[in-house]
Amino acid sequence: MEKVLISQLTNFKGKEVRLSGWLTNKRSGKGLEFLIIRDGSGFIQCIVDETKVNDADFQIAKSLTQESSVSLVGQVVKDEKQIGGFEIHVSKLELLHESKGYPITNKPHGVEFLMDNRHLWLRSKRQWAIMRVRNRIIFAIHNFFQGEGFVQMDSPVFTGNAVEGTTTLFETTYYEDKAYLTQSGQLYGEAMAMAMGKIYTFGPTFRAEKSKTRRHLSEFWMIEPEMAFYDNDMNMDLIERFIKYILKDVKANCISELEVLERDTSIFDKIIEGTFPRLTYDYAVDVLKGKEKINGKTTIETLENDYKEVLLEIENKQNQILEAEAEIKQGVKKGKQNFLQNKIDTLKNDIKELEDRKRVIPEWINSANSFEYGSDLGGSDETVLTRMFDLPLMVYNWPHEVKAFYMKRDDKNKNLAKGVDVLAPEGYGEIVGGGERETNEDLLIQKIEEHQLPMKAFEWYLDLRRFGSVPHAGFGLGLERMVAWVCKLKHIRETIPFPRMYGRLFP
Ligand code: 4AD
Ligand code: MG
Repeated sequence: MEKVLISQLTNFKGKEVRLSGWLTNKRSGKGLEFLIIRDGSGFIQCIVDETKVNDADFQIAKSLTQESSVSLVGQVVKDEKQIGGFEIHVSKLELLHESKGYPITNKPHGVEFLMDNRHLWLRSKRQWAIMRVRNRIIFAIHNFFQGEGFVQMDSPVFTGNAVEGTTTLFETTYYEDKAYLTQSGQLYGEAMAMAMGKIYTFGPTFRAEKSKTRRHLSEFWMIEPEMAFYDNDMNMDLIERFIKYILKDVKANCISELEVLERDTSIFDKIIEGTFPRLTYDYAVDVLKGKEKINGKTTIETLENDYKEVLLEIENKQNQILEAEAEIKQGVKKGKQNFLQNKIDTLKNDIKELEDRKRVIPEWINSANSFEYGSDLGGSDETVLTRMFDLPLMVYNWPHEVKAFYMKRDDKNKNLAKGVDVLAPEGYGEIVGGGERETNEDLLIQKIEEHQLPMKAFEWYLDLRRFGSVPHAGFGLGLERMVAWVCKLKHIRETIPFPRMYGRLFP
């Protein structure tokens, strides 16, 4: 008999198969045990019927505990109601290992508890789905760049160079010297692009972000393409194609994962078919501050409308709760009562989220109103801007003071640098930062001095401008930010198997 994975069951309709996996959930009926088994490739309901298996096997099913490992034999039966469209009618069941007192039950747990048990939490269905989406995104990224003729390169983790400012450096020792964990592979990528034409790095990067936010990790994975003979317009064209490619690929290949995550993918279609709005920084600031209207409305008007809608929605949900509670009080059957109680709990949760929005919208309005031209966009400014468009935005031509030392100064306006940030919609904000690189050696030296970086450490980098300097550009995509957006997660911590962030090093 063939040993199969749950993901392969569609090829075994009506056949007897052997499966191995773990029990994730269980329900009992009269003479029946309904086991939900997972094997890493998927989830499946396995029915153990007292009259169809021997007594010992039925006893195993009856007393099976969460996360015990089993091996079983059974027939693959089509059942449209089931996830995946199949179930297994078990004929033999063998216990491999009994799990006792698994800490993560099917009741709700606090997130800190789950993070402390991350090594086990990864087995849960949502986490399973997220990790598989992450895997698919990684695969799609390699496919995209390899298909476009890019050469993958590995940049060093130990480095003597600060790239993205000196405030987020992790310092370490390197034999007798001081060294840093890399913040970005870009500078090395530029050197390699001069050797290969088009390259991309895909590696871990480190930033000491001493604050707890929903979008910052201390260790994250970045994809950094770098292209010789590219200007920033070509760079933006590439970014747009790249993001569309990932969305298309994930949508086609992660159907059940996105279903588990209850991710509405209609926005992906809109993005795949749409054109990303490209806003100069100046224009973006005007939009933000309500000087420019989008679709006939200013940001402030849009947010005030959102606020009113939130209030209405809260009221509406509160009324629904009252109605459901009244119905329960009148006396209903047990099943109906459970249904109503569930509905009430969901509504209460929704209200909690709406209350959060109610609290932050005035903060957003405030931050939009008080934004000062010349400063960097903050998280809430990004949220407000993306609220105005249902597509990723590309904000380009930034005041050079807020950008890194290597950004190319705009020939037409010396105050601006040819950088680009891509802001993801649905409130996610920056997922990509990039731009054209400064080719003028004198300007670069001046910038390195202004940023108070040690010139000696950058001598090798300046060589790239001394020997056949060419226009070039590139960008960095934060993998975890992309995963968070694609899966529509509230927090970046769930996008990586073992997150490293301020206040967490274990497990
Ligand atoms: O905008 P950043 O700092 O740009 C660079 O590092 C450039 N050297 C990239 C390049 O042009 N080659 O970072 C790029 C992206 C951000 O847009 C964000 O998605 C992600 O990296 N990122 C983080 N992700 C998670 N946690 C953090 N602390 C992050 N910091 C940046
Ligand atoms: Mg950035």
